Amino acid sequence: MKLRKLALATVAAAALALPGGMAEASKVKGEVTNFDFSFQGPFGSYDRNQLQRGLQVYHNACAACHGLQYVAFRTLSDPGGPELPPDQMRAFAEMYEVWDPDERDWRTAGPNDRFPDPEFEGAPDLSLMAKARAGFHGPHGLGINQLRKGIGGPEYIASYLVGYTGEEDFQAGSMFYYNKAYGDWVSMAPVLFEDMLDYADGTPATEEQMAKDVAAFLMWTAEPHLNSRKNAGLTGVIILGVLTVLLYLTNKQLWAPIKARAKADIKKRKD
Ligand code: HEC
Repeated sequence: MKLRKLALATVAAAALALPGGMAEASKVKGEVTNFDFSFQGPFGSYDRNQLQRGLQVYHNACAACHGLQYVAFRTLSDPGGPELPPDQMRAFAEMYEVWDPDERDWRTAGPNDRFPDPEFEGAPDLSLMAKARAGFHGPHGLGINQLRKGIGGPEYIASYLVGYTGEEDFQAGSMFYYNKAYGDWVSMAPVLFEDMLDYADGTPATEEQMAKDVAAFLMWTAEPHLNSRKNAGLTGVIILGVLTVLLYLTNKQLWAPIKARAKADIKKRKD
């Protein structure tokens, strides 16, 4: 009975891990490109320069419409993130205005404020978008594949940004644009254009580069502690590995005299 349950569980787990398994049922019609990111895989981590470039793209191309309501400016200096030096982080915050409920007025943002919501109609908050679009939209399905290749959310965001086919449609007073990552018409116009900004680190600002950088940045906003979480996991695996070896040796030592006695007994009986 127990064995059957175990077998069933194994089959279910395998179905989840297979690319075309359970994930197929919930797949959307869009095409998502399997971009590579530095933070994929059990040992992956964020690339600080990429997060800084992504922040630059967000600031220049997205912040006018999309907020990041869960991200405080001071976290831009946290280890494992874009790691802006504190003075740069302060200067960055000061480029934004936030509503102060006590003063009942707008004021310049400081380190403890969060990215404001520009309240552009229909534009969702992007703080958790990389997680919200994970898995079901991604190219990898679920289970083990996600562990190896990432959750698919950043791939989806980058694909969305470069997914415009150029087809436009004017309907009921609004413009719609065909997006092949979404697999349908969307109300967001294309926003990335080659060389629209100069990267501080000299990386060429191609459309795809900017899309990947801002997608990586949005992965960080959704999962700011990925680096330390993976480090802790790795430390855990190493400690458990050492413990396993020690226990194995202890076990051997503990039973050694009894084994020796048993061997001697067998030998005596044979003789
Ligand atoms: C002019 C305003 C505007 C700008 C600028 C803009 N967006 Fe959007 N965005 C929208 C609107 C409106 C929607 C909702 C589109 C829809 O679902 O039809 C949207 C939707 C999205 C979605 C959700 C897609 C989904 O699966 O539902 C993502 C992701 C996104 N934007 C990312 C970005 C990023 C990243 C940038 C900057 C590189 C950006 N947007 C710049 C207006 C904007």
